[in-house]
Amino acid sequence: MTVTRWLRSLLLVLSFLCLGIPSHANPRPQNTITFNQDWRFHLGDVSQAQRPDFDDSQWRKLNLPHDWSIEGAFDESNPAGTGGGALPGGLGWYRKTFNVPANSKGKSLFVDFDGVYRNSEVWINDHYLGKRPYGYSSFQYELTPFLNFGGKNVIAVKVDNSQQPNSRWYSGSGIYRNVWLTTIDPVHVDHWGTWINTPEVNEQSAKVAIQTTVRNQSQVDAALNVTTTVIDRAGREITKTSSDISIKPNSDSTISQVLTISRPTLWTDDSPYLYKAVSEVEQGGRVVDRYETPFGVRSFVFDINKGFLLNGKHLKIRGVCDHHDLGALGAAVNRRALERQLEMLKAMGVNGIRTSHNPPAPELLELADQMGFIVMDEAFDMWKKEKTKFDYHLDWDEWHKRDLEDLILRDRNHPSVFIWSIGNELAEQWTNDPQAGIISKELSAIVRNLDRTRPITAACNNVSTQNTLIMAGDLDLVGTNYAHAEMPKFQQMFPNRPLIATETTSALSTRGSYDLPADQIRRWPRKWDEPFKDGNLDFSCSAYDNCSTPWGSTHEETWKLVKKYDFVSGMFIWTGFDYLGEPTPYPWPAISSYFGIIDLAGFPKDTYYMYQSEWTSKPVLHLVPHWNWKQGDMIDVWAYFNSDEVELFLNGKSLGTKRKTGDDLHVSWRVPFESGILKAISRRKGKVELTEEVRTAGEPAKIVLVADRKTIKADGSDLSFVTVKVVDDKGTLVPRANNLVNFEISGGGFIAGVDNGSEISHESFKENHRRAFHGLALAIIQSQGAPGAITLKATSPGLENASIVINAR
Ligand code: GAL
Repeated sequence: MTVTRWLRSLLLVLSFLCLGIPSHANPRPQNTITFNQDWRFHLGDVSQAQRPDFDDSQWRKLNLPHDWSIEGAFDESNPAGTGGGALPGGLGWYRKTFNVPANSKGKSLFVDFDGVYRNSEVWINDHYLGKRPYGYSSFQYELTPFLNFGGKNVIAVKVDNSQQPNSRWYSGSGIYRNVWLTTIDPVHVDHWGTWINTPEVNEQSAKVAIQTTVRNQSQVDAALNVTTTVIDRAGREITKTSSDISIKPNSDSTISQVLTISRPTLWTDDSPYLYKAVSEVEQGGRVVDRYETPFGVRSFVFDINKGFLLNGKHLKIRGVCDHHDLGALGAAVNRRALERQLEMLKAMGVNGIRTSHNPPAPELLELADQMGFIVMDEAFDMWKKEKTKFDYHLDWDEWHKRDLEDLILRDRNHPSVFIWSIGNELAEQWTNDPQAGIISKELSAIVRNLDRTRPITAACNNVSTQNTLIMAGDLDLVGTNYAHAEMPKFQQMFPNRPLIATETTSALSTRGSYDLPADQIRRWPRKWDEPFKDGNLDFSCSAYDNCSTPWGSTHEETWKLVKKYDFVSGMFIWTGFDYLGEPTPYPWPAISSYFGIIDLAGFPKDTYYMYQSEWTSKPVLHLVPHWNWKQGDMIDVWAYFNSDEVELFLNGKSLGTKRKTGDDLHVSWRVPFESGILKAISRRKGKVELTEEVRTAGEPAKIVLVADRKTIKADGSDLSFVTVKVVDDKGTLVPRANNLVNFEISGGGFIAGVDNGSEISHESFKENHRRAFHGLALAIIQSQGAPGAITLKATSPGLENASIVINAR
C-alpha cells in the first residue's frame, strides 16, 4: 500500500468514526453545508423581488426550515378549511444574500431543496432556475454559471400556496425542509448518483451491487478511477474495488461494480445495522470527489400465504401511517422532533411507517434506517382526478413522471424502504375508466426502470374485484385500505398475489376523554361526507377504544383480525400521531385529527399501551381511566397488560383477579366510583410483576415540569420537549385541569412551540402560554446555537410555580 493510499484509508476510517452514522442527508460532509441560515422572508407578493438589488432590509430575518402557516391564526374562513387545519396559506418570498469565495472559481455549485410547499420558483442573481409545483419533492439547481465568485450573490424563492384547498390535511407553507449548498469539482458523482442494492444475501455472504454515475462538467476528456470502499459500523474497511473510466466533456457515465461482504451483519427492524459505501473519484492521482452512501444488507419477500419475511424470518409489519406535520412546529422539519416521534413509536412496538401520502423528509428515512422501521414510501394522494379543487391533479400531466422518478432516485438506497406506493385511494379505481390500468402501468414502469428490488403497491379503498386498478395487475403487492369485514376473504379475492393492509383502523379518541359504558361502540360520523349529527357535539371522542369511523374499526377489532391472518403481511394504522387538519368526525371548531394513538402534543392515549402489551416483550400494565368521578358513577376500569393476570383493588379492597381469555386484549371491571386509590397488580407465574395506581386528584395546586432531555446540542436546532403537568398538593395529575400556564425563558434558548393535544384549541402554537388540557401541556425548547444553561419557568395564577434547566452543549 502506498503512503497516500494508506493515509486515505486512515482518513476514511477517521472520518467515519468522527461522524458516526451520518447525521443528515449529506453524501458529502466535507463539501456540502447547510444553507438554512440568514434568509429574509416576506409574506405577500412583491414585484422584482428576484433582483439582486431589491431592498429586502425591512423583510423578516429567519432561519429555515420555516412554515408560515403555523404562525397564523385559526379561522374557519381560511381557504384550506378545517380539513387543511384552518390555518392561512398565501404567497411568500424568501431571499438570501451570500458570498461565494473567489477560490471556488472552477468548481461546480449546487443548491438542494429537500421540499418547498408549494409551487416554488427559484432565481439566482435574477436568473430563473425553474419551478417545482409538488410540495413534497426534493430538487436541485446548479448555480455555477450565474454566480459572482469573490462577491455577493442573491438567491430568491417565490412560494405560492395561495390556491386552496389543495390538500386533505394540513400542508404548511414555505421552505419547510432543509436547504443545502454543495461546492465540488466539475468531475463528480452525479446528484443521487449511486444505486446500491444487495441481490444475494445469506449468512455466509452478501453481494453488493453498486452503480455509480459520474459526471464530467469540464471541457476536456476525463480519465478517471472510481473506487468504492465498504465500511462497517465500527469504521473498518471491509472490502473495496476500483474501475477505470473515461468520460467525454459535459457528459456522464455509469459504472457497475460488485462487492462481496463475507459473514454480513444483516439489517433488521430490531438491529438495524448499517454499512457505508464510500465512492472516490480519482483523476490524475488526486481524489476529486468523495461520496458516501449508507446502506443495509437484508433480504425480504412478501409471500402469498406467509406474509412478510425479513431475512427468511416471518415478521408482521406493525406499522402506522403518519402525515408530515410535527404538531406545534407545523410542517417545518426538525430532526429531533422526528426522532422523538419515532422513539415513541418504537417503544410502543411499531416497526413500520407509511409516509402517507407523499414523499417524506429525507431525515425520516435516515432515522428509519438507523432505528429499524419498515417504510412504505408513498408518492401521491391523487392522480389525474382531483380530491380537492387545486390539488396536484392540476400538475399531474406535466410533472408526475419527474416527481415519481425523483422519489425513487432519492430514496432507493435506504434499507428501511421496502415498498413503493404509487398512490393512495385514487379516484380512478372506482370507475370503469380504463385510466386506472393505463396510469398504474405507466407508473409501475417508471418505478421498475429505476428499482426492481421492491414491490409496488397502491393503497386501495375499493377492495373488490371490480377495482380496475388492482385487476390491471401491475401491483406486486395488493394494498387494501379498510374493508376489515372482508379481510378473511382477501386471499380468495386476489389469489396469487401477496397482500398488505396499507391502511386500517381509523379509530377516534381524545386523550383523557371517556364515554361510558366502555363496551358501547360509537361509529362516528355516519357517513364520511355527512356532517356530524350524533353524540352531544362536545368535540371529544372516547379514549376507551370504543369510537371509530364506520369505514374503520376500533384498535382492538382491527388488530385481532390482522393478527389472525398470516397472509396479511402487516398493517399501517391510521394514524400513529394526531395531525393538523381532517378533524373527523367534528366540524369547526375542531381543527386537528382524532385518529392518533398519540396526541398532537406527543402524549400517548390509552391504546398506546394496548399495542405495547401486544407488540413488545417489555412488561406492561396500564389502567384506564383516571379516578375523578362522581360518587356512585359506574365506571368501567380496563387493564392492558401482558403478564398472566391482574388483580384490581379499590381503597385496599380486592375487586377480583382477571385473566384474558380467547383473543382478549384487555380485562375490565365495572366499578361503582368511590374516591381514593385504584390499584392494579399484575402477576406472572404467581409472582408480582408490576403495580399501577390511579388516585383521585384534589384541586390543582402546582406545576411540575419534566423534560424529555435535560441536555441538548447547542446547534441551533436541537430540542427539549418539556411536559407540563398540573398536579394537586400530593403530586397527582388533575385529569380535568385546564389552567392557563405562562412560560418565561432565559439563556440560549427559545420556545419553538407550545401545545396541549386538544383538537379544538385555537391558541397559537407560537405563544409563550398555553392552557393545560386534561392536566397536560407541552413547551418545546430550542437551542439558539450557543452553549449554556436555558431556564424555563412556568407560572399559573393560584398554582405553585416550577422551573427547569436545560443545558445546551
Ligand atoms: C382514508 C384516507 C386517509 C384519511 C383516512 C381517515 O380513507 O386514506 O388519508 O383520510 O381515510 O379515516
